[in-house]
Amino acid sequence: MMSFYKQKFTAILLMLVVSLSAQSQDKGLTPADKSKIDVLLKSMTLEEKIGQLSLFTSDWDVTGPSLNGNYKKLIKNGSVGAIFNAYTVDYVRELQRMAVEESRLKIPLIFGYDVIHGHRTIFPIPLAQACSWDMAAIEQSERIAAQEATAEGLNWTFAPMVDIARDPRWGRVAEGAGEDTWLGCKVAAARVRGFEGTDLKATNTMIACVKHFAAYGAAQAGRDYHTVDMSMLSLYEWYLPPYKAAVDAGVGSAMTSFNEIAGVPSTANRWLLTDLLRKDWGFKGFVVTDYTSINEMVNHGNAADNKDAARLAINAGVDMDMQGSTYLDYLAPLLEEKKVNLSDIDQSVRWILEAKAKLGLFDDPYRYCSKERQEKEVMTPEQQLFARKFVAESCVLLKNPGQLLPIPGNIKKIAVIGPLGDSKKDMLGNWSAAGNWEKCVTLVEGLNNRPGKQYEVVYEKGCNVTDADRSGFDAAIKLASTADYVILALGENGWMSGEASSRSNIDIPGVQNELAEAIVKTGKPVAVALFNGRPLAISQLNSLPVAILETWFGGTQAGNGIADVLFGDVNPSGKLTMTFPLNLGQVPVFYNSKNTGRPYNPADPGAKYVSRYLDCSNDPLYPFGYGLSYTTFSYSALESIVDGGKIKVSISVTNTGNRDGEEVVQLYVRDKVGSITRPVKELKGFRKVLIKKGETRSLEFNLTTDDLAFYHPDLKKYWEPGEFTVFVGGNSAETMAKTIEVK
Ligand code: BGC
Repeated sequence: MMSFYKQKFTAILLMLVVSLSAQSQDKGLTPADKSKIDVLLKSMTLEEKIGQLSLFTSDWDVTGPSLNGNYKKLIKNGSVGAIFNAYTVDYVRELQRMAVEESRLKIPLIFGYDVIHGHRTIFPIPLAQACSWDMAAIEQSERIAAQEATAEGLNWTFAPMVDIARDPRWGRVAEGAGEDTWLGCKVAAARVRGFEGTDLKATNTMIACVKHFAAYGAAQAGRDYHTVDMSMLSLYEWYLPPYKAAVDAGVGSAMTSFNEIAGVPSTANRWLLTDLLRKDWGFKGFVVTDYTSINEMVNHGNAADNKDAARLAINAGVDMDMQGSTYLDYLAPLLEEKKVNLSDIDQSVRWILEAKAKLGLFDDPYRYCSKERQEKEVMTPEQQLFARKFVAESCVLLKNPGQLLPIPGNIKKIAVIGPLGDSKKDMLGNWSAAGNWEKCVTLVEGLNNRPGKQYEVVYEKGCNVTDADRSGFDAAIKLASTADYVILALGENGWMSGEASSRSNIDIPGVQNELAEAIVKTGKPVAVALFNGRPLAISQLNSLPVAILETWFGGTQAGNGIADVLFGDVNPSGKLTMTFPLNLGQVPVFYNSKNTGRPYNPADPGAKYVSRYLDCSNDPLYPFGYGLSYTTFSYSALESIVDGGKIKVSISVTNTGNRDGEEVVQLYVRDKVGSITRPVKELKGFRKVLIKKGETRSLEFNLTTDDLAFYHPDLKKYWEPGEFTVFVGGNSAETMAKTIEVK
């Protein structure tokens, strides 16, 4: 029985938490702002209200089908609340001028854009960033992105994308943090903090938009825009928490997803948008659709026509229609027919006007239009330096036989071979905002840029990324034979991941594997730099005696950062946040799966009636959390002490190699018996630490029983007493383990 004082204390604490989270949601909205909005709302015509609920692209950038080319006329009419794909001070100023000087009520516009991994300075793709396990760096990259974007007129980004994804066929895995929910929550919060800062009225912060709500990452068969269907338990346990983490971090807007949930498209899903997001989670920003996702409900088959779709969306809780024009065209007649409520329209307008007030746009609509800032705060040397370090930190060393890497200092001639060795365009990856590919540093350039270099760099493409043309093989082999060391630059084109970029075959495309085999035959030492936006099936390449460095798409500073790792100026410390399968047939394969009733037992490999494949192992090629260093680490002295509701786990990690290095020490837990079956392992903590050569560091993790909680059929989250295994290690497969009892 809880004591009276304890109960009272808990109640006060709860009130404090609720009010703190309400404050973080309010983001600087003052009572004066609120009364100004009341007055404004009273003076608005229905058409002007509906205008605030409409978002159109300026057509500067194409991110979907174009439906409405007359956005300038609409702005002057007061029929637009926000514009996206328009940036640079002059252009934004001109459009804003139309809104605040030519429209009747002079309500300023919000300017949105997909600032996904940088604005002008492009950072590694989000999946790569997550592999750094460096939350401070992730936050800082968004801080810089916001600084650059707001210096060019923008004040709203369509990020973070926090969709948990377990299927690498889906091209959009590149935009998220990978397969793990716990880590996904940390990354989501860091990104929101980075974009929004602590003060949205500061001119270098912007409203973030958590997307795609919800569960877009679970598209069937990894095909983009495809159906999502899962149990409520899976939705709550694995897919929803990162969106919630973004809401708790105070995210100012949320975007609906293209997919359906339990047969209802997200954009029409009142349970999702109103009951869960607004009522349960207390979200106080505005909800925008994804690109024409209201109209797409006709194709989904839950709306008869666009008008019907608009009705469903507004009644579900969608505040702003992105590019679909359905609110503009149909909300007025729907109101007349009493199919929608004026109070819902008013509430949506209020959320959007509040966002404008939070940004300070009513005080000064041109506050993001500073030419001086545009000149001074974009692509600065400090930003480039940070980007370069972030590239190096996001690389994951997958394989390094015979210490092929780092490249020895006495090398005189390096041959870079492969279609991605000198391709500036590909370095940006997908969603590169206003990034200029011409400013990207390729691998060849990065190798040449090293100060005081004593080696020559030569380059041959060898083949293209996707086709079967082998005519360049001979020249590549010839050149490789003249070098002391070969770097193969292989992988996907930048456009092969991201939206609408699903693949049914996740091998390294084209004839690149063959090229690799031919180059290895030269007998030269070979390291592979892999460029890709998703885990690939690389078993064939992996079987060769080569080192493999996963470099993803590093953005503007790609080549410099990769060269830093290849030469050992930076000791790699990245760890995969998405499993690399042995082959496509294993997909979806992720570390936190269930055990099944007939688990495969490696001690009895011939057993037939167990959960296994006849033709390959259940184990992936590289598991979640995996990544090598140029040094080695050993783990010892795992201890776990349970004291009431607290669990203290300690471990010693020794750097057993001969250089300093950073290690991501990971803590996993398995709940051995649950009324709802539990995964074989769940990440519950990590520490990224620098350990000097020869040094041993003792680390401690402190969990509470809250960390053991999971969702039950009533969708309540609580823990169950019993036995747990705690695991600590350098990846999800190689760990030390200890069983504890928590009562
Ligand atoms: C994408 C969103 C993006 C939007 C605006 C859509 O097609 O799904 O992620 O924010 O376009 O460009």
